[in-house]
Amino acid sequence: MRPREQTPPLALVIFGASGDLTARKILPALVDLADRGRLSDRFTVIGVARTEWTDDEFRKVALQDATAGGERWQRLVERFRYVAGEYSATETFDRLKEVLSEADEQYGTGGNRVYYLATIPPVFAMVAEALAKEGCNVPGPGGEFARLVVEKPYGRDLQSALDLDDAVHRAFGEDQIFRIDHYMGKETVQNVLALRFANAVFEPIWNRRYVEQVQITVAESLGVEHRGGFYESAGALRDIVQNHVMQVLALTLMEPPTGMDATHLRDEKVKLLKAVDIPTPDEAVDRSVRGQYGAGVVGQEAVPAYRDEEGVAADSQTETYVALRLGVENWRWAGVPVYVRTGKRLPARVTEVAMQFHRVPFLAFEGELARQLRPNSLVLRIQPNEGISLHFGAKVPGEEFRVQSVSMDFLYENAFHERESDGYPRLLHDAMCGDATLFIRTDEVEQAWRIVDPYLAAWSQPGGGGLHFYNAGTWGPHIADLLLERSGDSWRTPEL
Ligand SMILES: NC(=O)c1ccc[n+]([C@@H]2O[C@H](COP(=O)([O-])OP(=O)(O)OC[C@H]3O[C@@H](n4cnc5c(N)ncnc54)[C@H](OP(=O)(O)O)[C@@H]3O)[C@@H](O)[C@H]2O)c1
Repeated sequence: MRPREQTPPLALVIFGASGDLTARKILPALVDLADRGRLSDRFTVIGVARTEWTDDEFRKVALQDATAGGERWQRLVERFRYVAGEYSATETFDRLKEVLSEADEQYGTGGNRVYYLATIPPVFAMVAEALAKEGCNVPGPGGEFARLVVEKPYGRDLQSALDLDDAVHRAFGEDQIFRIDHYMGKETVQNVLALRFANAVFEPIWNRRYVEQVQITVAESLGVEHRGGFYESAGALRDIVQNHVMQVLALTLMEPPTGMDATHLRDEKVKLLKAVDIPTPDEAVDRSVRGQYGAGVVGQEAVPAYRDEEGVAADSQTETYVALRLGVENWRWAGVPVYVRTGKRLPARVTEVAMQFHRVPFLAFEGELARQLRPNSLVLRIQPNEGISLHFGAKVPGEEFRVQSVSMDFLYENAFHERESDGYPRLLHDAMCGDATLFIRTDEVEQAWRIVDPYLAAWSQPGGGGLHFYNAGTWGPHIADLLLERSGDSWRTPEL
């Protein structure tokens, strides 16, 4: 990871400029960077999509969607350009080339390009290939780089990810490709690295001798919102586990890298992912639970069942919840269960990693409280209330010797007064500066798919991985408890 700096001169070309992601994530991230002086003065954005906007209409949208933008942002927006066109049409790319040349001339963008595929996945390969065909996969005159930022999802199973990679690699070299997983842009995800590798006290206990089990929870209280159609073809495993959970898992359990640069860090992540056990079809069914939410109450609000959401089939088989029991087959983690769960319409939005340590070998204290004492755990809270909590037993004041579980909490917000970020400003800035450390390399994507593919395959067989319903506002189907109870374990209830 390199020190923060201003981006070099460049043109950022957004494919999908009229879409939801551009409005909700990319433009606000650019405002944030502009306001903090991180964008070069020789910078512009060129939007490309079908909607028939003029330059001015696109500029208006950029000001509307990013209302918080200050004077710097307004000055930048004045030079934004827009190309209306279909990605399958050569004219779109001819026009884009013209606009890029004009940008180099008028705004000094210097032949440098960052293409952002913020569009629908079925056209990713087509756009990459068209860029190459038009010679846009290399820098313009005098330029130093042409990069391709790719949104998730990267494929919908192993084979489609490999096919997409083949197509993209025909157009761009791996060192030009920046695959986004916005979790990697979050401070608290990066803080897993600081916690583990900047402190001497944790590393000695970060292994099977001390850790009894690991639990990774990515809970959302929201349903599918207006994205039911998209979610129907994804499901929780593809939407969250293949990408975000695998990234968090890799950072939490990997070996210490010898450097925090793109090569060393990603080498260690891949090594860890390669050690995650790949189940047989029977094991995949046995070690997984798929769920779908029914109607219920989240917070104070009555919410509909998934099957009643807009864009969702009345007999949908898509999972909105998944729980897995994984294992990591290496010296450090052999035999330690790694439980993973994610779901929509759970009681709260919370992402956390809990390292649960072994119980003491012998408990000399008497009494009910002592018996109920929870084993020590270290909880890395990724969102919200980002921080780290250590849970341990403490003596209850009084004459009796009673012991009770308490926690020691570090809250990011109190220490650094930073507000939570969705990760986009950081990642966009890194891509524009050419730092690939927090982006997902081809072998990581491939390995993550190798891990989740057997579950998808097993579930698609008759009788494989039936769907279990849960009421919105609960922690998922009851059967997910059995996944842990078999080994004498239980799910943690995250502190809300
Ligand atoms: N939205 C989110 O919250 C979110 C979060 C994480 C990741 N993502 C990812 O971000 C990407 C974009 O998602 P989105 O929600 O922004 O999608 P979206 O709202 O449907 O936007 C798609 C964009 O692509 C353009 N487009 C699609 N096909 C085209 C074609 N053949 N030719 C020209 N333009 C075309 C659309 O242009 P027109 O509308 O003008 O036709 C529109 O600008 C997806 O990969 C998604 O998985 C989205």
